[in-house]
Amino acid sequence: MWRVKSLDAILATAKKKSLHRSLGPIQLTLLGVGAIIGTGIFVLTAAAAQKAGPGMMWSFVIAGAVCAIAALCYSELASMLPVSGSAYTYTYAVMGELLAWMVGWALILEYAVAASAVSVGWSGYFLGLIENALHFHWPDALRSGPAWSMNGFIPVADFGAGVVNIPAILVALTVTALLVRGTTESARVNAILVVIKVTALTAFVILTLPVIKTGNFSPFTPNGWFGPHGTTGMGVVGAAASIFFAYVGFDAVSTAAEETKNPQRNVPIGLIGSLGICTIFYLLVAAGAVGAIGAQPVLALDGSVVQPGSAAFQAACATAANADRLVCSNEALAHVLREINWPVVGNLLGLAANLALPSVILMMIYGQTRIFFVMARDGLLPQSLANIHPKWKTPYIVTIFTGVCVAIAAAFFPVGQLADISNSGTLFAFFMVAIAVMVLRVKDPNRPRPFKTPAVWIVAPVAMVGCAGLYFNLPLESMLVLPIWGALGLVVYFAYGYRKSHVGRGITDEVHELDPDAPPTGVPGVD
Ligand code: ALA
Repeated sequence: MWRVKSLDAILATAKKKSLHRSLGPIQLTLLGVGAIIGTGIFVLTAAAAQKAGPGMMWSFVIAGAVCAIAALCYSELASMLPVSGSAYTYTYAVMGELLAWMVGWALILEYAVAASAVSVGWSGYFLGLIENALHFHWPDALRSGPAWSMNGFIPVADFGAGVVNIPAILVALTVTALLVRGTTESARVNAILVVIKVTALTAFVILTLPVIKTGNFSPFTPNGWFGPHGTTGMGVVGAAASIFFAYVGFDAVSTAAEETKNPQRNVPIGLIGSLGICTIFYLLVAAGAVGAIGAQPVLALDGSVVQPGSAAFQAACATAANADRLVCSNEALAHVLREINWPVVGNLLGLAANLALPSVILMMIYGQTRIFFVMARDGLLPQSLANIHPKWKTPYIVTIFTGVCVAIAAAFFPVGQLADISNSGTLFAFFMVAIAVMVLRVKDPNRPRPFKTPAVWIVAPVAMVGCAGLYFNLPLESMLVLPIWGALGLVVYFAYGYRKSHVGRGITDEVHELDPDAPPTGVPGVD
């Protein structure tokens, strides 16, 4: 189980397509911005405010800094191994099959659960739009899943607030159908969507900053830095652990290293550039939202501090006094604009979110299917998952399977909890990448590195500490999902992958490569 797949074998297996080096620093930055901006800023701003109040502005800075440091580690491996499978593949080469399996297993949380989170985020904006623009009221039971609370370690669903999120199911399945047909997002569509998203956020900032009231920033950190004693995942750092989701996707830049001109210079520009641009936008948007209508958390009916999305939180938001609070909105940014008397622009921003978020879902499901595909190609998952559709040349079985799972999770869970669970998997994967980059420097110091992490012996340990720090500030339930999911992964590995692994059986696998004529790359961020 410690067997590694050699770097040369990985490059051979993937039949390293020598891609044309065409991307410059601006395209790379655009790629990053397109992959990053999504549900995090459009929707989770409300959840971050519930955790940290106006202090969520610090949360955006902390989460952005951890991502920037992790991104520098990611880039070194991505430039050495520009192949499918991202952190899973790097770990396989460096730290062996078992850890690679665990990373691949954690990436399911990252990609599939993130796709569910963005689907629920899309649903919030969709419902807000048809309600405000078309005055159509979607049935209450069919607009969100139940509210969840913990009874000890047992999750309990409260179906009073909602039963099933039908719009989230519909968007997840529609995107899945597009992927089965072989839709990939072109650079042009990405550029258009970046313009739409950036225009929407710019309009938000321009309209909210002039109406800022300084009183809305006080108290600045109502839940402190780590939340009141006895709570988990609250306060400024708890909000940072959640809002980390808003930055996920920047690996688009590092995985495009092979297509980049002068990667040593341009990859860090693209990474730090896109993260920097998003951080500045996020800070301005957060300042505008807080300053315009206030961002103080709501308290439970008994006066205690509550997690966003919980049953107690839903009950607090159902009271008339709290109905218009930022923290209670499912479409935070559109809600702010409506509250400051820009209802039409609020609806247009909602429309922008509705147009742009499906591309984030597409990238996430695409990424998930490619990771399953690579794991199946390595023999760690059943080969049939990697079957290619005869006409559309896509891995349709794994795509449909992923899409159905994404739709089910989106149907029954709130966006904030899904994002937190996704973050737990992502943070684990980044943590392992930071280790892998150091191990490889020792094991294979002379291999060419088109991009080298600067000051790696400082940057990589800091990335590990940052990822662990955010993980341990997630809400307890989300934190627990990772070890439980990991234990399940171990069972699956020893029951299946350990025996079937191609590396273990000495098979050099070329058979299930995607059709070279099909466009396996082309969706930024994941391949
Ligand atoms: N960063 C992406 C989003 O916020 C995942 O939707």
